Amino acid sequence: MAKLKVYEYPHPVLKKKSVKLEKEELNDELKQLLDDMLETMYAEAGVGLAAPQVGISKRLVVIDVEQDDEGGKPGNPLYLVNPEIIWRSEEKVCGTEGCLSVPEQRAEVERYAEVTVRYLTPQGEEKELKADGFLAVALQHEIDHLDGILYIDHLSRLKRQMVVKKLMKRLKSV
Ligand code: NI
Repeated sequence: MAKLKVYEYPHPVLKKKSVKLEKEELNDELKQLLDDMLETMYAEAGVGLAAPQVGISKRLVVIDVEQDDEGGKPGNPLYLVNPEIIWRSEEKVCGTEGCLSVPEQRAEVERYAEVTVRYLTPQGEEKELKADGFLAVALQHEIDHLDGILYIDHLSRLKRQMVVKKLMKRLKSV
């Protein structure tokens, strides 16, 4: 396994729409990439990672919302190929979000309280996952990445500018 480079805002790869994987791409190489993404996510203490964040414009997501609180210890890793939200609840929730591609910033984002996601396993099996709570939020956040959307894109213009300003300040100081 290998730790991958995580691209940060404002890298253009984060704004690109990712492409679906074809059946013949579901091979050992793909499983290796997903394992590397998972290792990178644990190393960076994230709960989810989408392929565009490691510079790959493909519809791939890894999530683990059940890992050890200290971070880094696998809990219940999910590998999602071509994930797609097929149902959203009417109810919405507000929660604080961060992102490995928007380092050290956090903001309140509104999301659907529950979603159902259809996806393929790395072995090509079609599955549906109904989620609420933190997992539902993580799924929406990561699937957004596949369409070139960051959580800061959901903020009001003013709040977004505040986050970007702080981020740019941080970039200049490192
Ligand atoms: Ni993110």
